[in-house]
Amino acid sequence: MTFLFNSDARRGAIFADAFAKELPDVPFTMDAATVDPDAVRYLITWTAPEDLARYRNLEILFSIGAGVDQFRLDSVPEQVKIVRMVEEGIMRMMQEYVTLAVLALHRNLPGYLAQQRAGEWADITQPQAGSRRVGVLGLGQLGQAVLDRLKPFGFPLAGWSRSPRRIAGVTCHHGELGLDEMLAVSDILICLLPLTEGTRGLLDAGLFGKLPEGAALVHTGRGPQLDHEALVAALDGGHLSAAMIDVTDPEPLPASHRFWSHPKVILTPHVASVTQPATAAQAVVENIRRYRAGLDPIGLVDWLRGY
Ligand code: GLV
Repeated sequence: MTFLFNSDARRGAIFADAFAKELPDVPFTMDAATVDPDAVRYLITWTAPEDLARYRNLEILFSIGAGVDQFRLDSVPEQVKIVRMVEEGIMRMMQEYVTLAVLALHRNLPGYLAQQRAGEWADITQPQAGSRRVGVLGLGQLGQAVLDRLKPFGFPLAGWSRSPRRIAGVTCHHGELGLDEMLAVSDILICLLPLTEGTRGLLDAGLFGKLPEGAALVHTGRGPQLDHEALVAALDGGHLSAAMIDVTDPEPLPASHRFWSHPKVILTPHVASVTQPATAAQAVVENIRRYRAGLDPIGLVDWLRGY
């Protein structure tokens, strides 16, 4: 029941340590070339290797990241469980990034940066937090962690998910009708959705049109969810005021892309949240323990939903 680690050696060394201490009866290897493929029960990787089928006894395919959209779920044998990375490092970093973004947009940072470059010293109208409504698309672990971190600032908080949720201090919306309701009251919209056929291209002109005048966008979901041209048009036309974007399609963007120099866009290179090896190794160890005890691993992917 070997655990095969298919990622960089630095993180691998941290995983190897955790396995030696916590699961000494599970052989750990980083060497796909020499491993007996029939012995491999657990595999952690970012993209699924071309020769995945050779691991005939594979039971769990772990993603080293929060997303599983890179896997092409239909190419993974049906009996293999797929598990997303749910670990406190990813959650903490996402809380930091989204808080940074919301505060930057709330306090008009893109506008002040543009004024600084133009040598201009002037106020920009500043609503108080109590009248800046924040809406989060996606109420999984990350969405909930982010909302929790935003609570002390006093923004009216809303969230949207496919199925109903209840979260203290957050107005929760769900389903198609609920989406329009939430968009109408989101002065700052945060996208934390997984990439599925249902969310590909979701952030388009139609969606931007449903946001209040002057709304801003934080995008930390997946690149293919955002229609870049529609965003630039909404910013240039003035309906949207600014955007902080961490994920794009493609990554990196070509040198000529408008986001690089657009005065209303703050762009970061897909760094909002990165798996932290020590806490991730602990999360995987815990998940193997759960699995062996007959429980579902945390982050188990539902095939039909696609996340
Ligand atoms: C990063 O985007 C991840 O999936 O962890």
